[in-house]
Amino acid sequence: MSNPSSPELVSGVASLRDRLAAVRGQRGRIGLVPTMGALHEGHLSLVRASKSECDCTVVSIFVNPSQFGPGEDFQRYPRTLQADLDALAGCGAELVFAPAGEDVYRPGHATWVEPGGVAEPLEGRCRPGHFRGVATVVLKLLNMVAPDVAYFGQKDYQQATVVRHMVEDLDVPTQIRVCPIVREPDGLAMSSRNAYLSPAARARSLVLWQSLQLAATLVDEGERGAETIVRQMRQRILTAEDARIDYVALVDPESLEPVEEIVGRTLAVLAVKIENTRLIDNCLLQPPGPRAPVA
Ligand code: PAJ
Repeated sequence: MSNPSSPELVSGVASLRDRLAAVRGQRGRIGLVPTMGALHEGHLSLVRASKSECDCTVVSIFVNPSQFGPGEDFQRYPRTLQADLDALAGCGAELVFAPAGEDVYRPGHATWVEPGGVAEPLEGRCRPGHFRGVATVVLKLLNMVAPDVAYFGQKDYQQATVVRHMVEDLDVPTQIRVCPIVREPDGLAMSSRNAYLSPAARARSLVLWQSLQLAATLVDEGERGAETIVRQMRQRILTAEDARIDYVALVDPESLEPVEEIVGRTLAVLAVKIENTRLIDNCLLQPPGPRAPVA
């Protein structure tokens, strides 16, 4: 394997497969971290998780056009390959797979994965076609790399759920791991899109995390009504004057169906535009269990 401080950059699928055949020949375990680049500590936490379990970690960097809707930020999405390679050098990723657009969607590409079920609510409703693009590119990357394990972030909770279902439904022999959300010290979930925010909007965007914390506090204090909690979360978000809410919801963490009452683990999930930048975040709420019987 090459010097762990400098990942090997591969752009063609054939050379990727050659390189990985050598790893497999030594019975090495392969981990894949799919990304769109503009890497931050959230991505790097996935790389570290893969490093801790696998012999060869592949980080894919590909800004996937098919998951962006018309009028979304595909053109201006940050592309920072050299900085990404430098960041990965510090984590010991062995391979960076950065294919060109035409190597992923070759002329005549006409086959798509249409995820249903958990892909339909929330992001599915706000961004039609988004998960079709995500599921298709993730399946392609899984087929190109054939990893033993692939790593996703809880930051995109619904995406990770869609991928878990796809892998199960289509019998893909890869384990899916979902890793915790990495936050800035003030609580904002790390995201490549945070770079779009002006300093003032960056400060206002803290209402996302505050509203999730508010939900957790309300549940700790005994509130169980989803409508009441969502109303208070929305109020907190709207203290940022330009905030536009796409959704704020309390849902079952498996089915992503809305809940009316918090009876067990519940996902609080939201999407909000601040200064035209669309931010998403979520947090698992756990109502305190019954008190242990007093002896
Ligand atoms: P991207 O937004 O680059 O994210 C790549 C992976 O990093 C995703 O699994 C995402 O959930 C995870 N991630 C992002 N921010 C995180 C944070 N703050 N903490 C922990 N993990 C975080 O998600 C995509 O790319 C694309 O949709 C992709 C799966 C690569 C398909 O194109």
